[in-house]
Amino acid sequence: MPAVQELLDRELERFEREHPRSRELADEARGSLLSGVPMPWMIRWPGGFPVFAAEARGARFTDVDGHEYVDFCLGDTAAMTGHSPEPTVRAVAEQSAQGITLMLPSEDSLWVAQELTRRFGLARWQFALTATDANRFAIRLARELTDRPKILVFNWCYHGSVDETVATLRDDRVVEREGNVGPPVPLDETTRVVEWNDVEGLERELAHGDVACVLAEPALTNIGIVLPEPGYHDALRAATRATETLLIIDETHTLCAGPGGYTAAYGLDPDALTVGKAIAGGIPAATYGFSEAVAERLEAMLPADERADVGGIGGTVAANVLSLAATRATLDEVLTDEAFERMIALGERFESGVADVIERHGLPWHVTRLGCRVEYLFRPERPRTGSDAAAGADPLLDRLIHLYALNRGILLTPFHNMALMSPATTEADVDLHTEVFDEAAAELA
Ligand SMILES: Cc1ncc(COP(=O)(O)O)c(C=O)c1O
Repeated sequence: MPAVQELLDRELERFEREHPRSRELADEARGSLLSGVPMPWMIRWPGGFPVFAAEARGARFTDVDGHEYVDFCLGDTAAMTGHSPEPTVRAVAEQSAQGITLMLPSEDSLWVAQELTRRFGLARWQFALTATDANRFAIRLARELTDRPKILVFNWCYHGSVDETVATLRDDRVVEREGNVGPPVPLDETTRVVEWNDVEGLERELAHGDVACVLAEPALTNIGIVLPEPGYHDALRAATRATETLLIIDETHTLCAGPGGYTAAYGLDPDALTVGKAIAGGIPAATYGFSEAVAERLEAMLPADERADVGGIGGTVAANVLSLAATRATLDEVLTDEAFERMIALGERFESGVADVIERHGLPWHVTRLGCRVEYLFRPERPRTGSDAAAGADPLLDRLIHLYALNRGILLTPFHNMALMSPATTEADVDLHTEVFDEAAAELA
């Protein structure tokens, strides 16, 4: 059997040969785009240069060389609706002819807030354009409310480009995460970090009494999926309540668990919740909401003075009428309860296809699923913590599998082996992945 590097070289050569137009554009882009890409993450696609997109619809897209792909990356969740879902496109067309941004509320903001309460249970909402900003604003409000300086996050978490969260543990010390660009202050001044599923560590760090809020995904999703152990969420809620620390749940990725995210699916009771990316079908929109009790405290604390507009929360084009029209249409007609039922069933089909391949080829790998999100890791056991998951990563094998899939018409989420099902994804799309994964596994076994 050829070694991983040998297979990778073969796949790189095929990629280069079959993507001449993308290659041409990538070369030209070096003259006008920083590092040849419009956004830094795009430098990390596995072929040496990114595929340039031509058009996308539903669960598929085509590139400038005319290849068609099944898209399981779906804009790293921002297009979990499938690309350009008809109700969102219609709402955007109608709204954009009637105003795009006014800094005035529209009726849609009310409808969306009421729908968010129905789905997630929290009482009052605000809007932003990205999940990063929703997290940033929720953190600021938590600090203001508690008069405490720090936040607590979990090792190997990701919550967007929020300064306080790009931290990690090294020899039990909080340091900046490798690759963190231009941190404003040392991370141990702003942040406490503990391992996911470590109740003792959590209680110890919260006991300092200087943590305004815990910011947590309900399951880690950005270092592969790391699920909470039984009872962990109860312990997290009890420890935050005991220390009067606010609990902010970031549902940006775990919305995959159902229409009300993990919070509704598993009955969580956070003080605040943030979610972005998919809620407007790919149009920039995000939201952050608070429980009744916290909302009342915030409203009492934030009088209508200059803090309303220069206090470090909000933004000129946040809550614009176009984003809210898109969010309304997406929640009302695309990411519906019925759509989630189908998406989760597809996730189960994806998971069992992968599990079957792993077993048949006797590979020391495993697969995990959360709702309509599925992830495979190249190690036999499920990780318990972020560090565990990070230690089990195999960057070379990751790169090979991504490129192998790409060369055969399948796009996986970069950085890890994640696949997301949209309302437009079909069983045939899932089965195509299983076939290609089987082919790769046979070469690697
Ligand atoms: C859990 C989570 N929260 C927040 C974000 C930030 O989203 P955005 O980059 O759209 O601001 C991400 C991005 O990957 C995320 O995974």
